[in-house]
Amino acid sequence: MQRFSPTVSIIVPTFNESRNLPRVVCLLEKAMGGIPWEVVFVDDDSPDGTWRVAKELARADARVRCIRRVGRRGLAGACIEGALSSAAPYVAVMDADLQHDETVLPAMVAKLENGEAEIVIGSRFVGDGSSVDGFTARRAFASRVATRLASLLIGRRVSDPMSGFFALKREVFEAVAPRLVPSGFKILVDILASTRGQVRIAEVAYRFRSRQEGLSKFDTRAILDFLGLLLHRMTGGMVSVRFLFFMVVGSTGIAIHLLALRAGLLAGLGFDAAQSLATVAAMTSNFLVNNQLTYSDMKLKGTAALAGLLKFYVVCGVGALANIGVASWLFLSNKDWWIAGIAGVIVGATFNYTMSSIIVWRQQQN
Ligand code: GDD
Ligand code: MN
Repeated sequence: MQRFSPTVSIIVPTFNESRNLPRVVCLLEKAMGGIPWEVVFVDDDSPDGTWRVAKELARADARVRCIRRVGRRGLAGACIEGALSSAAPYVAVMDADLQHDETVLPAMVAKLENGEAEIVIGSRFVGDGSSVDGFTARRAFASRVATRLASLLIGRRVSDPMSGFFALKREVFEAVAPRLVPSGFKILVDILASTRGQVRIAEVAYRFRSRQEGLSKFDTRAILDFLGLLLHRMTGGMVSVRFLFFMVVGSTGIAIHLLALRAGLLAGLGFDAAQSLATVAAMTSNFLVNNQLTYSDMKLKGTAALAGLLKFYVVCGVGALANIGVASWLFLSNKDWWIAGIAGVIVGATFNYTMSSIIVWRQQQN
């Protein structure tokens, strides 16, 4: 009986890439030569039915697999799950849009196999690597700035830490997997920061091509996620990306509150009524923005959103009580008024965040 055991599991995250998939498999077949491989498409329930195409391909070829994730979104998380679902001694990650040059994969695997490195990065910026075709000028500039920031975090110079094209040894991946942040766009940065100083890195140049079919999913959200990831790592993993978002959104709530209060007063409401109205306005706006941003990967829609909003009111109400309780207690035990005030806010905000993550947008926190 012939056994199939791939040397490398190639993880390909997909979102609306149905038209690129057949080509990806075809090109991998050509590129991999004698190296036994498998490809795992990880699709976040794409509206264009990418997962259907992937499963169609999988039916015809045992080397092709597909994970259809439902109720979740996120490039990094998709890569993590795909890699975790596989077992080959080497793991590679590549985009589905054919921007990454699959013909350098054998060279990447060779460097892992001959022990030259534990992580091999496909780089647009070393040797013959090039990104001229694939990026707009603005994106190229943003990419340079981000690369600088990322280098600080990683603690060494890597020419393309933002790459979405890389390969690594399975042991290395499995060791850091529990610590990775699934909500981001830049999983390699996270892996490099998590393995800081412990692994050898090699780079292989490739020419960044233009996207074949479909659209890029890189957006403002991806930038915010990246900044969140940097802060998360800089605080030694203490501050979660989601918590940071939640706090920033909470601060914008203060502005909404004051605007609504002013409007209420101008409209002739008494102070108590205007203040109540402002509180509801701020909570509502916080809920909507959090749903859009902080919990975008598990966005509530329709009646679920309405139920979520009501739960959010309750959570924030209890949070406010906790805030006032702690602040009053500290104030009475002779702490400065501002220390008492800040402590109250911190306790209230942390309570709101924790309970929101558990009750309103049910999922594990990260
Ligand atoms: N499962 C899943 N979920 N896949 C996603 C998601 C998601 O939420 N968002 C994007 N993808 C998939 C896309 O379908 C594509 O296969 C790949 O992830 C990269 O997305 P693109 O939209 O093509 O990103 P890009 O070209 O702007 O940037 C990519 O290349 C850069 C250069 O290597 C990314 O890989 C960047 O991280 C990388 O820096
Ligand atoms: Mn792309």
